[in-house]
Amino acid sequence: MTERIALYPGSFDPITRGHMDILERACLIFDRVVIGVLQNPSKSPLFTTDERVELIRQSLDGNPGVEVGTFAGLTVDYAKSVGAVAIVRGLRVTSDFENEFQMTLMNRRLNPDIHTVFLMTSFSNVFISSSIIKEVFRLGGAIDDTVPPAAAEAMRRKFAGQNAGERG
Ligand code: PNS
Repeated sequence: MTERIALYPGSFDPITRGHMDILERACLIFDRVVIGVLQNPSKSPLFTTDERVELIRQSLDGNPGVEVGTFAGLTVDYAKSVGAVAIVRGLRVTSDFENEFQMTLMNRRLNPDIHTVFLMTSFSNVFISSSIIKEVFRLGGAIDDTVPPAAAEAMRRKFAGQNAGERG
């Protein structure tokens, strides 16, 4: 039987427990999941592409069904290049829907053979997003239960470096 591969694309700046939740669910459905980290300089990410990939790898716990790659350009083109039959996206709140719906229809127009599968996080992860976590952390709030340990450590290091830079 042919292997069913899914692409889980995103910015992952940084990876959160919400992402991990979606990934675990995707692994139950697909034989292999490729996490595609978008190289997106326009979004001025906190972590470089290499750092984001490394944080994902450290959080994966050696799961043999998951690979991590990076891409620039269209998600459907990357999906095709890794042999994916589906794109996996997480849905949290209804406000996610509009943008996801638009992206799905555009992706389908670009490549009708690649389907988008939406998975929902557990209730405890509904409020988690990378951007809100970065804001909370910047303002001194606790984030340890929202990101994998490697990401929490990396955020502490990154912000300590930034603050030292601002002072110096
Ligand atoms: O984690 P994010 O930032 O919500 O992920 C968004 C992502 C990477 C899935 C989206 O921006 C994307 O697919 N970008 C690649 C460019 C592309 O294919 N655009 C057309 C889809 S509408």
